[in-house]
Amino acid sequence: MNVRTPFAAIAALALSLTVLGGCSRQPAAQTPPLAGARLGGAFSLVDQDGRPTTDRSFAGRYRAVYFGYSFCPDVCPTTLQALMQGYRAFASASPAEAAKLVPVFITVDPERDTPAVLKSYVAAFGKPLVGLTGTPDAIAAAAKAYGVYYHKQATAAGASGYLVDHSSQVILFGPDGQPIALVPTDQGAKAVADTLAQWVH
Ligand code: NI
Repeated sequence: MNVRTPFAAIAALALSLTVLGGCSRQPAAQTPPLAGARLGGAFSLVDQDGRPTTDRSFAGRYRAVYFGYSFCPDVCPTTLQALMQGYRAFASASPAEAAKLVPVFITVDPERDTPAVLKSYVAAFGKPLVGLTGTPDAIAAAAKAYGVYYHKQATAAGASGYLVDHSSQVILFGPDGQPIALVPTDQGAKAVADTLAQWVH
């Protein structure tokens, strides 16, 4: 089977070149994982200061968008902490690039997440996190456009609060609003910073 050896060697070489290519630090040569995905679009909401805010408010800037709610006991705080820790690591390494990025938290619980509630909530995770709320219809439309599922749980009589089931993903969008990549908050702050550094220029 010596005859096959040269072919195997060439195949192995080609494979190694492919792997090296994948590790290249030249983002222009890479297609964003979410390129062409039908995610994102127009929304009309208000921010934590009560200012009308639409998708166009972020035109020209990258956005890392996450849907959740401030009463969320576990997933949202963990996700936002990883996101903002990663953001700060990215910002200290690449301040000019980080200035082009806005982390955005959109509530799926507009009944309780008023602008005032969101103001103190986003402040707890640090600047420049933006919190958005709106009418139930506006929130529903935004969640649908961004591929987010949420469902308010029924509460037992006398229960003081309720939970809202929701899908949990942070998606990075580009300056024109096009989806770029998932931000891996479940892998911790360093993975977040690495993803931001890869795509935000
Ligand atoms: Ni949550």
